[in-house]
Amino acid sequence: MTKKIHIFDTTLRDGEQVPGCKLNHTEKLKVAKSLEALGVDVIEAGFPISSPGDFQAVDMICREIKEPTICALSRAVEQDIKTAAQSLAHAKRPRIHTGIGTSAQHIKYKFNSTPEKIIERAIAAVKYAKSYVEDVEFYAEDAGRTDNVYLAKVVEAVIKAGATVINIPDTTGYCLPHEYGQKIKFLKENVAGIDKVIISAHCHNDLGLATANSIIGVENGITQIECTLNGIGERAGNTSLEEVVMILKQRFADRYYTSVNTRLLNPVSQLVSESMCMPVQANKAIVGVNAFAHSSGIHQDGVIKSRENYEIIDPADVGVDKSCIVLTARSGRAALAYRAKEIGFELAKDELDVAYQHFIDLADTKKEVGSEDLQIMLNEVFQNV
Ligand code: KIV
Ligand code: ZN
Repeated sequence: MTKKIHIFDTTLRDGEQVPGCKLNHTEKLKVAKSLEALGVDVIEAGFPISSPGDFQAVDMICREIKEPTICALSRAVEQDIKTAAQSLAHAKRPRIHTGIGTSAQHIKYKFNSTPEKIIERAIAAVKYAKSYVEDVEFYAEDAGRTDNVYLAKVVEAVIKAGATVINIPDTTGYCLPHEYGQKIKFLKENVAGIDKVIISAHCHNDLGLATANSIIGVENGITQIECTLNGIGERAGNTSLEEVVMILKQRFADRYYTSVNTRLLNPVSQLVSESMCMPVQANKAIVGVNAFAHSSGIHQDGVIKSRENYEIIDPADVGVDKSCIVLTARSGRAALAYRAKEIGFELAKDELDVAYQHFIDLADTKKEVGSEDLQIMLNEVFQNV
């Protein structure tokens, strides 16, 4: 039997807190609607205590979005939790996300506290959140650098206090995949009551390992992944939604599934990129403009013969029209014939040889030969034919 992995999208919270990414209410609602259409299970809509504007945005999203759970972030502080609860008043499925730092670093240098007092605050926060909503997610901030034995104590205590979801964030993107996997395994084996809650991965990408850590987390018992479109988020960003969803679909379909409609991944990625003014790097997995573009002669020849020679994902599955053969000075005859045919020139072998010499001269002067350049060149070469 395949297991459902819940997709918790935090584009509008962890993603939106990035400098320059701030959205107005209309843009936030547009992104929230597209996330609902995409099929995510949870939308983290904001951090309502942080500003009146954020409170209003969460409230507006709760009124308009009905399918996914709407989640609001808070610290383990009563006023935060109360404000989060108020912002969620109109949600069909409200969730409060509360928590506190649990690493030795955070306990000493952020809270000037002790491990025992942190557990007391964590329990109190969960109980207080529970007085407002049934669904309470607890985050152990900096769990990635938290001692596993202490982390297990915190997690057991908050489950007893009523937490329904336990978030194990690698807040600083510190863990190596085997370390993050072992952490989840340790919790699964050492925490009473862990099987009745959802365990969530919230990984940051400081070492480029957020996606790998989330997937190894799944292999060890994670059933919710927190992620953002295009991997945006604090510093080097969060786990990228499109990557984890496609990894589960392409490589683990016999064991896991998500409710995401993958055909909407590219359109929603573009919407997020445009509204947040955050360009997507060209070589970004799944949603970069080059993700399905082939430019070297060897690859182009292979892809023209059979797409699967060089592609493991059907572009249509992620909302891309088709693979693209880019003409550059590294392209070969097969690519030239293919692109020429696309614009109406069916070239015989000897014509292709002639055209190719002209093409290579042209390509050496340009980064890329576009359809218009190609058309002009072929017209000139074959004008007398
Ligand atoms: O990175 C983190 O630890 C967070 C928490 C607030 C969940 O974003
Ligand atoms: Zn985060």
